Amino acid sequence: MTSTRSRLTCEQRAAATSAERRIYINAAPGSGKTTVAAERFGVLRWEPDDDLRRILALSFTRSACAELCTRIRQRWGRTALSWPHVGMTIDALHCEILTYLLRTEAVSWPGGLTELTVLDNWRGQKAARWMAESMGYRRAITLDGTAVGTRGIPVNRAGHYVGKKEDFESHLRAGRCAHEDVRHLVLASLKNAELKAIIAEFLRATTKAVIVDEVFDANELDLALVWLAAEEGLSVTVIGDPWQALYDFRGARPDLVPGMVEAGAFTTYPVSRSFRFTTDTMRTVAEKARSGAPVSLATSADIAECDVVLARKWKDLWDVADCVLPLSFGRLANQTDYYGLRWPRVLVSLGPSSGVGTGAVSRLIWPRLVG
Ligand SMILES: Nc1ncnc2c1ncn2[C@@H]1O[C@H](COP(=O)(O)OP(=O)(O)O)[C@@H](O)[C@H]1O
Ligand SMILES: [Mg+2]
Repeated sequence: MTSTRSRLTCEQRAAATSAERRIYINAAPGSGKTTVAAERFGVLRWEPDDDLRRILALSFTRSACAELCTRIRQRWGRTALSWPHVGMTIDALHCEILTYLLRTEAVSWPGGLTELTVLDNWRGQKAARWMAESMGYRRAITLDGTAVGTRGIPVNRAGHYVGKKEDFESHLRAGRCAHEDVRHLVLASLKNAELKAIIAEFLRATTKAVIVDEVFDANELDLALVWLAAEEGLSVTVIGDPWQALYDFRGARPDLVPGMVEAGAFTTYPVSRSFRFTTDTMRTVAEKARSGAPVSLATSADIAECDVVLARKWKDLWDVADCVLPLSFGRLANQTDYYGLRWPRVLVSLGPSSGVGTGAVSRLIWPRLVG
């Protein structure tokens, strides 16, 4: 077990070793969120008490979760993640909760099954097909009281779905469902007072502390579970960078995080030093950009050397050099507006390496793009 605690910054150490039960670690980009999460895992894991419940480290993608577990093992040794202590994706926690509800017969699955095969999505499954938003109805899972059932719902987001009732229900009878179905059932269970009490008791009985890395990736259900854990008296650590908040991923609701932190009286620990920005210039630019001050990375004379030029406002793009071909991916419907930040518009420069006469390409493509 190597000691890296001495290399932590003061802010990192204060966050990782906090004795508070609800903490929010507000981290700048590249400031070591996963490092602090791994550090805190061991601090709570080896707290001198008689609590035999698990420390639960949560992240949102399999790769992020694998990275978090690797860091925990590197920092604390392999026994850090010995049973019952565990790192898992939050989707795996949803599956664990649903399986508990089925095994305890609090919720009943078609055919009385208690073991499920949970798919990432329906793509490639029998009778599943791509459905666009305009393609009418698809079959979806429901919780009717405490029984799992199905109903037809409009396709409100394009994707792979099973359209027909009998096809969908035969998947369910075989124990097959998608993560989206599990999320729906757990969220519906939390809205049922009796089932919510069972989930609360499950969390309280099994888990001493929850550590959530990248909390701004959490959706409504994830945050409801984090909230429930806090209500049940578990130690709850949420770590995130509000500047890395993306709405589209798994229905993430980064806008709900500040409200939860405030309503739950989470103690905030800022972790501000970035290890991503290694030079003084990079640090200064990052600080200016975050404070909303104008930042220029290149003079107009350097523009021809750039591969990509970013600008926050469309009107700023018109004065740049001829060799820059403007492409915009901004649309009213998909713009992220978080803490006043909007996605930049993108200018792609056809630099000398493209081997194409940039002026000619601009003249050919520009009118169509602008139109
Ligand atoms: N106190 C520290 N001293 C030196 N390097 C650090 C420190 N904290 C984090 N790092 C390094 O910074 C990089 C980013 O850390 P990481 O925990 O992955 O950040 P994040 O999860 O915020 O992206 C890693 O290479 C990590 O080893
Ligand atoms: Mg990380």
